[in-house]
Amino acid sequence: MGKKVTVVGAGFYGSTTAQRLAEYDVFDTVVITDIVEGKPAGLALDLNQSRAIEGFETKVVGVTTGPNGEGYESIEGSDVVVITAGLPRKPGMSRMDLLETNAKIVRQVAENVAKYAPNAVVIVVSNPLDEMTALAQLATQFPKNRVLGQAGMLDTARFSNFVAEALNVPVASVRTLTLGSHGDTMVPVPSKSTVNGKPLREAMPAEQIEELVVKTRNGGAEVVALLKTGSAYYAPSAAAARMAKAVAEDSGEVMPVCAWVDGEYGISGVYLGVEAEIGAEGVKRVVETDLDADERASLLEAAEAVRAKQGDISSM
Ligand code: NAI
Ligand code: 2OP
Repeated sequence: MGKKVTVVGAGFYGSTTAQRLAEYDVFDTVVITDIVEGKPAGLALDLNQSRAIEGFETKVVGVTTGPNGEGYESIEGSDVVVITAGLPRKPGMSRMDLLETNAKIVRQVAENVAKYAPNAVVIVVSNPLDEMTALAQLATQFPKNRVLGQAGMLDTARFSNFVAEALNVPVASVRTLTLGSHGDTMVPVPSKSTVNGKPLREAMPAEQIEELVVKTRNGGAEVVALLKTGSAYYAPSAAAARMAKAVAEDSGEVMPVCAWVDGEYGISGVYLGVEAEIGAEGVKRVVETDLDADERASLLEAAEAVRAKQGDISSM
């Protein structure tokens, strides 16, 4: 049977994700939903009209959903559901300021996903990311491997871009890694970062690496401050769309994602940014990598910070 993906939320993140997913031409159907009357249908019309130019056969369907789950029957049979519903940050706001508002939205969406697409892999992008991923798992009651969050792909892409720009080398020659939370306890990992296969630490001085680590942690806020309204969506949608594609193709690709950690790095019982093999069942396996002592300590710190917040969400 043909593959089907649903993107919930037809804002900037959702609409660009739907576009990328349609243009991959690996799904039969991309469903995009929102609570705003007409908007998803309008975007779907527009995207379908680009098919003849971009040369893809995927059909996009836009559906407005209601407060009591009206419209959710359209997501039936989805292999993957990407949840982008929720408010973005305004300048000066932290992702955590969105917690209560977005928790209500994500819970309602997740309950409907559980009802109408009980076999889907759920990829959460709504912020604050680590907490909303944990909440989506609670609300769906899906196995933990079938609910994951997008953050590490984006943060890693930002780190790679900053390194490539600083060294004036092709971005394709740079490999970086970012673990931890999608927030203040983000853990960029210089020890696993390379330029043309050589350690980043040989390509640039420690102080410059530290500057780029800080810039990476601040990557989202820098965009928010410039846009004045709304947050980034080109790089974020590229990240989520690649994850959805890896699920659809059961590729087994190793990606940095927010996944349930159960013993890796000596950490248990928390959703956290780690590397994982992604396939048809969501997370096939968390991949533990060697970290130096500082990076390992930062990851443990991130786990405890996220655990404290994730503890609060069960009541939301
Ligand atoms: P946006 O404001 O453009 O779009 C959000 C959409 O969600 C709106 O169209 C709104 O009508 C819709 N929505 C609200 N309640 C809904 C519900 N119950 N069901 C369906 N749709 C609903 O915001 P944008 O830029 O698309 O960002 C979406 C979320 O993604 C935000 O929470 C933002 O912070 C987060 N984000 C996460 C990133 C990550 O790396 N994880 C990166 C960038 C953004
Ligand atoms: C970002 O990192 C705001 O989480 C969003 O761009």
